[in-house]
Amino acid sequence: MDKKFKRTLVTTALPYANGPVHIGHLAGVYVPADIYVRYLRLKGDDVLFIGGSDEHGVPITIKAKAEGVTPQDIVDRYHNIIKDSFAELGISFDVYGRTTSDTHRRTASDFFRRLYEKGEFIEKTSEQLYDEEAGQFLADRYVIGTCPHCGNERAYGDQCEACGTSLNATDLINPKSAITGNAPVMRETSHWYLPLDKWEPRLRQWILEEHKEWKPNVYGQCKSWLDLGLQPRAVSRDLDWGIPVPVEGAEGKVLYVWFDAPIGYVSNTIDCVGDDWTRWWKDPETRMLHFIGKDNIVFHCIVFPAMLMADGTYNLPDNVPANEFLNLEDDKISTSRNWAVWLHEYLRELPGKQDTLRYVLTANAPETKDNNFTWKDFQTRNNSELVAILGNFINRAVVLMGKYYGGEVPEAGELTEFDRQTTEEVRRAAEAVGLNLDNFKFREALREAMNVARAGNKYLADSEPWKLVKTDPERVKTILNVAIQICANLAVIFEPFLPFMAGKLCRMLGIDRLDWGMAGRFDLIAAGTKLGEPELLFEKIEDSTVEAQVQKLLDAKEKNRLAAWKPEPVKETVDFPTYEKLDIRVGKVVECEKVPKADKLLRFLIDDGMDKRTIVSGIAKFYKPEELVGKEVCFIANFAPRKLKGVVSEGMILSAQDSDGRLVVIGPQGEVAPGSSVG
Ligand code: MF3
Ligand code: ZN
Repeated sequence: MDKKFKRTLVTTALPYANGPVHIGHLAGVYVPADIYVRYLRLKGDDVLFIGGSDEHGVPITIKAKAEGVTPQDIVDRYHNIIKDSFAELGISFDVYGRTTSDTHRRTASDFFRRLYEKGEFIEKTSEQLYDEEAGQFLADRYVIGTCPHCGNERAYGDQCEACGTSLNATDLINPKSAITGNAPVMRETSHWYLPLDKWEPRLRQWILEEHKEWKPNVYGQCKSWLDLGLQPRAVSRDLDWGIPVPVEGAEGKVLYVWFDAPIGYVSNTIDCVGDDWTRWWKDPETRMLHFIGKDNIVFHCIVFPAMLMADGTYNLPDNVPANEFLNLEDDKISTSRNWAVWLHEYLRELPGKQDTLRYVLTANAPETKDNNFTWKDFQTRNNSELVAILGNFINRAVVLMGKYYGGEVPEAGELTEFDRQTTEEVRRAAEAVGLNLDNFKFREALREAMNVARAGNKYLADSEPWKLVKTDPERVKTILNVAIQICANLAVIFEPFLPFMAGKLCRMLGIDRLDWGMAGRFDLIAAGTKLGEPELLFEKIEDSTVEAQVQKLLDAKEKNRLAAWKPEPVKETVDFPTYEKLDIRVGKVVECEKVPKADKLLRFLIDDGMDKRTIVSGIAKFYKPEELVGKEVCFIANFAPRKLKGVVSEGMILSAQDSDGRLVVIGPQGEVAPGSSVG
């Protein structure tokens, strides 16, 4: 850590408590933040790790309305699910608070009042969208319309998710209320605005000049915002869910969720350390880091810092390591389409596999660009990396130790050139892990950590203790001593990434405390130490496990398709004589076979009560010919004959097209004589 800092405050974006968290949240924010914090703790740094739920805002009231419950019911439910599932994944928050807490209400109100009293807000009356039927103003996600930048027809009143642009509700073209679907009217209302333009020069200096080290995606987004010029931003809303605006004459108005939520970091710090919170927020020797996803960059780099500047007594973040997005099976993760892997479900369906998820999400972290999670890759990384490289090495070292020395670590003799090459490689890789973590390069750090396990495997494979044990038993002692020291190195350097594995490994090796200073050392396990019982570190993941997960996604897709399907609009009206022109009849299938060289066509021979006629129908994809023989079908008897793939078709068999495009042949519900008219 930079010399000028004595301690680090790490915050993670507060997830909206309107649903559980999914792998996209984890890969973007919580897993990297947890790795970083665990690393700092191992280094002995003073660190505080803040999490919590964001319980205000329109997404929550919309969900409550949809379910017919109160917003409080919604946030109570999801806050607990989220909190428990984070804990189970080993996300080691020092506090996981919530923005409906008393502490937060007080802290956020005080913050607003202080800025209000300092004259930091502008009060402005303007026309806003109003839904007359619902009797309320439409802010943020209460309005849907066309994005003026990219034409996406489902942009929200606060943001277009297609192009990422942040919007005002009044920017939308053709706005519609998300509550009633009505077109809103304009109505006057007054709000408080934070004049971001006032802070623009300072923000420019602070970000563009003093923080050129920020990740290019973060720096770039800030620069384009600043280059567009900042405008005053409303910090209140006409809503009934939120923290009431704490000034006279503000009835019916609450703080804008993006005003109160980041103050939640402060409130949660207070809940965690009490009066000592000012040291974490105001002492310039504290370094503050915000871990967030890319959709939160502007709020954490521009809006919240402007709030902190307006207050004047707070630190600004030293870095904002924002990640891009994670896709799932090549498709955008979507809560509304249920295209997601939900953490609480994962924990239930793949019990004991926390480290595998942490590993895969880190190895595929969307650090510099959007990335993709697939169940196939999940399985491969578990089986051929965690099991075959990391687990395998540790297991071999421990098992050989048990076999040759009854689990008691032997003394090492003099190291050979090969031993020294190996220890050097371990030292180098361990150091690289630290350097990469210092720079928020989690994927690269993990790759280097795996290199230590690779070096261990190579060491055992090349030195072949199982052969030498007969010819040179002294040498084997050294080899296994070195191997077990490599295991101890793995416990340290993997602790931030795979804390469950590291815990087991420590028990096996008899290590009771880890610290980063142990990385790269070869005297970690004293000769004579008796190893604990070998524990299974990683288990192979079977095809059936990942197939079940893929099936779950396919089921979700199918459900969405059905939900989205609408019958075709009804065609132009026809009169009775026109209708009567069509001669529809029942016929019995006498023969049915595929038309050669036409994969869609079946040729039927139909008994029409008078004769037999040939009809060709494009339903070969949906039926086996023999299934239809003997069945009764409806057909158009006076359809003009036409030639299909060389066969003359004398009529048309009726079939219904299902929502998925499948064709189902139509026939009578009971037996009728072939040739009967249908009408
Ligand atoms: N709830 C927001 C989201 O999910 C994040 C809030 S972060 C905080 O996008 F800074 F406001 F806390
Ligand atoms: Zn757009």
